[in-house]
Amino acid sequence: MSLNVKDYIRTIADFPHEGILFRDVTTLFADARGFRIAIDQLLAPYAGARIDKVVGLEARGFILGGAVAHQLSTGFVPIRKKGKLPGAVISQAYQLEYGEAVVEVHDDALKPGERVLIVDDLLATGGTAAAGISLCERLGAKVVGCAFVIDLPDLGGRRLLEGLGHEVHALCA
Ligand code: PRP
Ligand code: ADE
Repeated sequence: MSLNVKDYIRTIADFPHEGILFRDVTTLFADARGFRIAIDQLLAPYAGARIDKVVGLEARGFILGGAVAHQLSTGFVPIRKKGKLPGAVISQAYQLEYGEAVVEVHDDALKPGERVLIVDDLLATGGTAAAGISLCERLGAKVVGCAFVIDLPDLGGRRLLEGLGHEVHALCA
């Protein structure tokens, strides 16, 4: 039987809030075949491209991005929630459904001109990814692509990122 990535993802209702259908990728990560398919498909469009660094968005983007970086033989750079990185950082605020959040990257994590691939598990409103893109660009890097396992198209993230001129690659909706 041929399975695709979506078959390994579990949906949990009312987490973390009532009315949210939470896409749980832990079941994908836990399955050897599912995880391999996801990593192979995430990096497929970039296999021939020059990528200097993979940038992962906290937290599930670390698991995926680390594996993608290993496969592409690149370094890995984490973008973390405020206050987690030990060195000097630059910060970027972004809108959540209610309120605001801040993500950070070490100010020496990327060099001007480096070509980066941003990786995360899920694209919803695009706020997190747009903040990540902004951090990379503020360090002078070029974002070559943004790769996600899941795109929730109704939430507008793809439209936002494509409107900013970025290519979005997603494995399922
Ligand atoms: C989730 C997901 C993305 C983000 C997508 O992370 O992993 O990073 O939300 O939402 P957006 O497109 O509307 O910005 P979350 O903020 O739950 O953080 P976590 O991975 O640390 O739990
Ligand atoms: N982040 C934002 N919306 C989400 C959802 N529905 N499932 C998992 N992570 C999310």
